[in-house]
Amino acid sequence: MSVELHESWRIGPVELPTRVVLAPMAGVSVQAFRRQGRRFGAGLVCSEMVSCAGIEHRNERTLGYLRVAADEHPLAIQIFGSEPSVMAEAARMVVAAGADIVDMNFGCPVRKVTKTGAGAHLLEDPDLACRITEAVASAVSVPVTVKMRRGVEDGSRACLVLGPQLVDAGAAALTLHPRSAKQMYTGVADHSLTAELVDLVDVPVIASGDVTSRARAQSVLESTGAAAVMVGRGAQGNPWAIREMVLGDGAQPTREEVAAELILFIQETVRELGERRASSFLKKFYAWYLGHGRFPKPFKNELVQLSSTEDVVTRLYAAAPGAAEIVARLESDLPDPSEEYLLEGMPISIYGGG
Ligand SMILES: Cc1cc2nc3c(=O)[nH]c(=O)nc-3n(C[C@H](O)[C@H](O)[C@H](O)COP(=O)(O)O)c2cc1C
Repeated sequence: MSVELHESWRIGPVELPTRVVLAPMAGVSVQAFRRQGRRFGAGLVCSEMVSCAGIEHRNERTLGYLRVAADEHPLAIQIFGSEPSVMAEAARMVVAAGADIVDMNFGCPVRKVTKTGAGAHLLEDPDLACRITEAVASAVSVPVTVKMRRGVEDGSRACLVLGPQLVDAGAAALTLHPRSAKQMYTGVADHSLTAELVDLVDVPVIASGDVTSRARAQSVLESTGAAAVMVGRGAQGNPWAIREMVLGDGAQPTREEVAAELILFIQETVRELGERRASSFLKKFYAWYLGHGRFPKPFKNELVQLSSTEDVVTRLYAAAPGAAEIVARLESDLPDPSEEYLLEGMPISIYGGG
């Protein structure tokens, strides 16, 4: 039975309007990225991984990750850590910040994270992984989900043992990126494991890894029986890939549309992070947006050299004057920023751009 990418589905009581999920990506999944993903048809968007220790210590930058806009729901906020009680407290905080779902990272392969007992380490410590899941699931009333890799070592099948245990411990859905932690991003995602996991659990499974087109999304859904696909790198600087997956609208954006989306993204990111952080954060996005043969390479190199985001925006308008009208239309459709959900009692300064 084939499922349609534009159909709705549920994680527990939370209804998700389409079967494309925007991946959590550290250093990428800022609020502007998530809001744009929703606007282009993602049924669920996720924050990047947020440290539960950072939340516990009320670290300013960490709390900045918990800034939720009115137009990004349904939203999962992803937390990572290794201490069940600290994870439970962090989960309560992210729900207070406005998360519809609490996702837990049991897949991050980076040593800085695994050496603390978090991320992919938990694939090899099922007892702790289940205790964390139980503690978090009983701390909040929203669904709690887990994102995993296949295991730590190449060829590992640890996710197939751990997955059902996590469901018993309270996980309402599982995301599988079927590469090992050792693999990082090399090789290919082996979605035959995703199909095996789907057969083992009675909660929705989200398939993550190497989904970059509608054809691929459909074939992964069909061959695995997963409830949804997750798209990460394929959506970097390319929200049109999400629209293509969900609606089958494969029209390539015009230069004006690309420039307009990038300009809006820059403006929103500066508002979120402040000019200083945003200007270095944004540089990788210039290459992502302007690549795909959309603009000549020297133009992209020129933008990266510019010192202020204002100069970048001016240069983009000069290269694509028609973008102004599109930006005005996009801006008029944005919700009033005063609708943003602010955590009670937190100083406004934590939000960088204010
Ligand atoms: C730059 C980058 C940052 C990532 N950060 C996270 C993260 O914070 N949490 C997480 O669970 N996965 C993270 N991932 C993994 C992605 O969510 C996704 O599972 C992986 O990239 C495979 O999907 P893709 O082939 O569609 O990119 C990250 C991936 C990339 C490329």
